[in-house]
Amino acid sequence: MMSFRDRIDNNKIPKHVAIIMDGNGRWAERHGKIRVVGHEHGVESVRSVVEGAGEIGVQHLTLYAFSTENWDRPREEVEALMGLLVQAIEAETDSLMENNVRLDAIGDLDPMPAHVLENLNKCKDRLKNNTGLNLILALSYSGQWDILNATKKIAQDVASQKIDIETIDHDLFSSYLSTSEVPEPELLIRTSGEYRISNFLLWQIAYSELYFTQKLWPDFRKEDLFEAIVDYQNRERRFGKTREQLTS
Ligand code: FPP
Repeated sequence: MMSFRDRIDNNKIPKHVAIIMDGNGRWAERHGKIRVVGHEHGVESVRSVVEGAGEIGVQHLTLYAFSTENWDRPREEVEALMGLLVQAIEAETDSLMENNVRLDAIGDLDPMPAHVLENLNKCKDRLKNNTGLNLILALSYSGQWDILNATKKIAQDVASQKIDIETIDHDLFSSYLSTSEVPEPELLIRTSGEYRISNFLLWQIAYSELYFTQKLWPDFRKEDLFEAIVDYQNRERRFGKTREQLTS
């Protein structure tokens, strides 16, 4: 049987793929391990998917690594996740460099521990001139935070007469979001059989194709990403138009 990689149409690669990496805890439970072990194995999946996305020419990959709501998890788990992030960044920077990957982070980074941010910025800086895949980590992120944050900044700019209320449209609003530099994702993937958006990119997924898989995140590999992309490529995207309008 042809692999999913071979079935991908190289002329229809989504520019931006976003992933909700879910199911680490359940993976650990099924393997009789503590939750952190699931997160550790999740890092392997991140590596494989980043590699795969780069191989087929995806330009932007946004991973939901830590949500605003995740701060409410038990302190030990939050600390373990922060530790893992630093560890993963330190261990992977060389190979990200070799793979021509850039790194960025979006989210309410203020509450992040200083050493984590320092680490992240160091890595970002080293990778900043790379021209391949742009890996975006959503950290301390929520879609509602993003929209509120943009709204506050717009309100400030209206108050200081930098912009006129009448000029607020889709493009202007988008330019105030944390994702201002990237196109809206064509494809959003969620693992672990949950059918929710969980406060991830909200504004940005207005027309995204949604792909759900039963696989738990620690079992997800690049071949699964390729499968999702083949599925995406076989869909008809209409953006509210009729089929006739699309083909004419
Ligand atoms: C969701 O699983 C996953 C997370 C909250 C964290 C994701 C983090 C990683 C994969 C590791 C670090 C990331 C990078 C980018 C190096 P869950 O714990 O909610 O699983 P459950 O729903 O089964 O409990």
